Amino acid sequence: MKIATFSAIKGGVGKTTLSYNFGQWLKHQGKKVLFIDLDHQCNLTQTFDIYEHTGTVADIFNPKSEVKIIKIDDSLSIIPGYMRLDEVEKSIATQSNKDMLLYMWLEDHYQGLGLDQFDFILIDTHPDFSTITKNAIAISHSVFSPITPSEHGFSSRDILIERFNEFKNEMVDFKTRESYITAKLYFIANMVKHNTKSSREFREVLNHIDDVIIVVPNKELFNNTTLEKKSITDMAADKSIYNKHKEFFINYEEVMKELLKHIE
Ligand SMILES: Nc1ncnc2c1ncn2[C@@H]1O[C@H](COP(=O)(O)OP(=O)(O)OP(=O)(O)O)[C@@H](O)[C@H]1O
Ligand SMILES: [Mg+2]
Repeated sequence: MKIATFSAIKGGVGKTTLSYNFGQWLKHQGKKVLFIDLDHQCNLTQTFDIYEHTGTVADIFNPKSEVKIIKIDDSLSIIPGYMRLDEVEKSIATQSNKDMLLYMWLEDHYQGLGLDQFDFILIDTHPDFSTITKNAIAISHSVFSPITPSEHGFSSRDILIERFNEFKNEMVDFKTRESYITAKLYFIANMVKHNTKSSREFREVLNHIDDVIIVVPNKELFNNTTLEKKSITDMAADKSIYNKHKEFFINYEEVMKELLKHIE
């Protein structure tokens, strides 16, 4: 099983949109995917019309009940988000193992909750580098971070790299000096417009950065994923939509394959 976290310190850059669509694309490839919504905004959970108050991610960190794995369909499942996860986070702040609670939970429940049936776990996070986000990173093989062509696009990348490396250095085994954090950090250039001055400048800088693995175009269709709760993969199945945006869908397929390459 492979685990990826979508994380960025900046909000509104496409974490939820990309995790949702990547999961739907993996489903189309015949994979089984478990989403974990670690953002207390719960956008990913709501995209599946799920509104749970018990058995949510909160119970991973501060068990009051059993965590529920909610089946969306034969391929997709989700551990729903919790709107007051920020409060749960405060309550664990003084625990010495606070960054490794998800790691321990996963080990303890791997078989009992049937987690071994999933090919992938995709985790959506709040725009920050908080304890909860660190918990996600601690169990991940890959961290995908969207950056957008704005004034602060690259500076948010710099900050994440710095925080990520600090965290890695903090979490070393005293004996072996090896870090428990083995995730690789990759960036996704998202919402890149076709032919604007800022996007051209952005692409120019991207050419010199090798941890930016894919460029996702700015495309209105992505808005429908949250508004109409329909994935890009589902839209592609509609012939008239596909033909209208053929170039986009062909490129999208390549983009998703590239993303997959960076977890496996
Ligand atoms: N490539 C894209 N082209 C056009 N719109 C996009 C693209 N990616 C995301 N969006 C839109 O941008 C908005 C923000 O995306 P999203 O909610 O995924 O960001 P986020 O990083 O999860 O935000 P938050 O930090 O609040 O959790 C949404 O309306 C989404 O539809
Ligand atoms: Mg989000």
